[in-house]
Amino acid sequence: MNKKAVITGIEAYLPDYILTNEELSTMVDTSDEWIMSRVGIKERRILKEDGLGTSFMGEQAVKRLLEATSTKPEEIDLLICATVSPDMLFPATANIISDKCGILNAWGYDINAGCCGFLFSFETVRRFVETGQYKKAILVCGERMSGMTDYTDRTTCPLFGDAAVAMLIEPTDDQNLGFQDSITHVDGIGRHYLYQTAGGSLYPPTADTVAKRLHFIHQEGQQVFKYAVSRMADVSVEMMERHNLTADDIAYLIPHQANLRIIDATGRRMGLTPDKILIDIEKFGNTAGTSIPLALWDFKDKFKKGDTLIFSAFGAGFTWGSILYRWGY
Ligand code: UT7
Repeated sequence: MNKKAVITGIEAYLPDYILTNEELSTMVDTSDEWIMSRVGIKERRILKEDGLGTSFMGEQAVKRLLEATSTKPEEIDLLICATVSPDMLFPATANIISDKCGILNAWGYDINAGCCGFLFSFETVRRFVETGQYKKAILVCGERMSGMTDYTDRTTCPLFGDAAVAMLIEPTDDQNLGFQDSITHVDGIGRHYLYQTAGGSLYPPTADTVAKRLHFIHQEGQQVFKYAVSRMADVSVEMMERHNLTADDIAYLIPHQANLRIIDATGRRMGLTPDKILIDIEKFGNTAGTSIPLALWDFKDKFKKGDTLIFSAFGAGFTWGSILYRWGY
């Protein structure tokens, strides 16, 4: 029988610098009142120092994880990094993090799935671990969103924050723990509404792409909102129905933290009371594919072994999905 994949350790790295709504209001025409009422973000962390990218945050999170779980770097056999803000297009940020952490017996690669970075990469890692062939895998979700955020564009600059989270994922024979099920989707229509135009092979960097600010995130907020609010709720309810779960059976929903209104709508459709929805968007903003594991780390003291959790996200691509998970320690 296949094993189940369980998170046996989780650690995070958050940059020290806190960018508040007050400071943003001095940079663009916005206000704390607008950002709080339309999105729900009060502040976000920013990696300010020159010469540091996503791998720096990933390295710090992985080193903390190895220490907290008393794991030697040479025991790790797989390291996958979910990111839309890699240090560079290649080599993979996974390889850079492995090198910086002395992880010499692993292989791995990056996964780019927008704000579903955690969902899709966990779906991938669990397949390796469930075979029993991989004994200690690390999943790193890391984003330096500030590097591609246009701080002259008020429609996007309040939204994003930087962070990295590392998780140790191991096999267990207990079929009732860990990764239970997933529903995953993509729809390429999303490429018209949320994207970074330049820097890839279609529009390589030129003076013109820089002058036109094409290296920054562009989002048609209302369009993305419209899709996100229905699809994140649909997929969460579908997961409940597939497993005959009522709201009472679910300990917590850990949603992607993009907009409080999307999270509230998802929770309502699932019939959950507010105490079952874990939200830290106010402190960290939208950290893209890192936001679910960041909330897992932030609230991990709440979880008891066997707790039923649902992770749900929607993001660029479009990508969306849901994971049914039972907390493993
Ligand atoms: O994480 C990946 C997936 N992403 C998402 O799920 C994000 C989905 N979208 C959203 O969360 C929301 O659409 C936003 C938070 C991005 C925007 O909120 P909205 O309620 O959809 O605002 P809007 O774009 O419809 O703009 C409403 C008004 C506009 O002014 P007018 O045209 O009505 O005069 C905007 O110019 O708000 C204005 N506005 C702002 N005002 C103050 C836009 N951004 C700001 C701002 N401060 N920062």
